[in-house]
Amino acid sequence: MLEVRELVKTFDSPGGAVQVLRGLSLEVEDGGGVAVVGPGGSGKSTLLQVVGTLDRPTSGTVKVGGVDPFGLDEAGQAKFRNEQVGFVFQDHCLLPQLTVLENVMVPLMIGPEDTMGPQRARKLLEEAGLAERLNDRPAALSAGEKQRAAVARAMVRGPKILLCDEPTGSLESTAANEVAELLEKLRKEYGVTLVVATHNQVIASKLPRRVLLTDGRL
Ligand SMILES: Nc1ncnc2c1ncn2[C@@H]1O[C@H](COP(=O)(O)OP(=O)(O)OP(=O)(O)O)[C@@H](O)[C@H]1O
Ligand SMILES: [Mg+2]
Repeated sequence: MLEVRELVKTFDSPGGAVQVLRGLSLEVEDGGGVAVVGPGGSGKSTLLQVVGTLDRPTSGTVKVGGVDPFGLDEAGQAKFRNEQVGFVFQDHCLLPQLTVLENVMVPLMIGPEDTMGPQRARKLLEEAGLAERLNDRPAALSAGEKQRAAVARAMVRGPKILLCDEPTGSLESTAANEVAELLEKLRKEYGVTLVVATHNQVIASKLPRRVLLTDGRL
């Protein structure tokens, strides 16, 4: 279970403090999927970054499987990010000099050895429809294929939660739909908890649940 309680996030700016999240609460059961929609600047990215411990909340709590990652020391938080959370951003962020398979295996180089990791990387790439592209460089792939490889990379450590920030923001509609369908397929197959921030109503409608972020709350 992902539990977010009374989350407040304030940024200091030259014009004074800006309260972006104002007591936001959200629960997503294990293997659940939720689309977070809302206007630009409403705090979708901020929410995902705090849930993934890339940023700290001003107040409120985040729990994943009953554990508050902000209660862990720095090493514990790094382990949490590496092993329990997968991130997908609008930009695929693949490394151009590595092959597609090598890119997907990058997260395996951090943290404890994972003997099943390379096998999982291949399986995820097959599920992403990229079985024939393992040894290609990212430059040879279409935008949608690159993003599907980025999804495979985010899943390679078997995370509990997959946080996707505008994962289809740079894609035309066919490629966007394919990415959304892949996310849903992986959610159902692996029971990963999916949180997707998106402007795209078609993508949002593919997830079991949608929440609207306005005025810092859902
Ligand atoms: N590091 C920061 N410092 C100061 N203000 C910030 C910071 N990060 C975000 N903000 C502000 O917080 C608000 C919410 O931003 P956020 O990026 O979370 O919105 P969003 O819903 O993801 O928007 P978009 O749909 O454009 O991606 C914005 O007003 C933004 O300017
Ligand atoms: Mg954003």
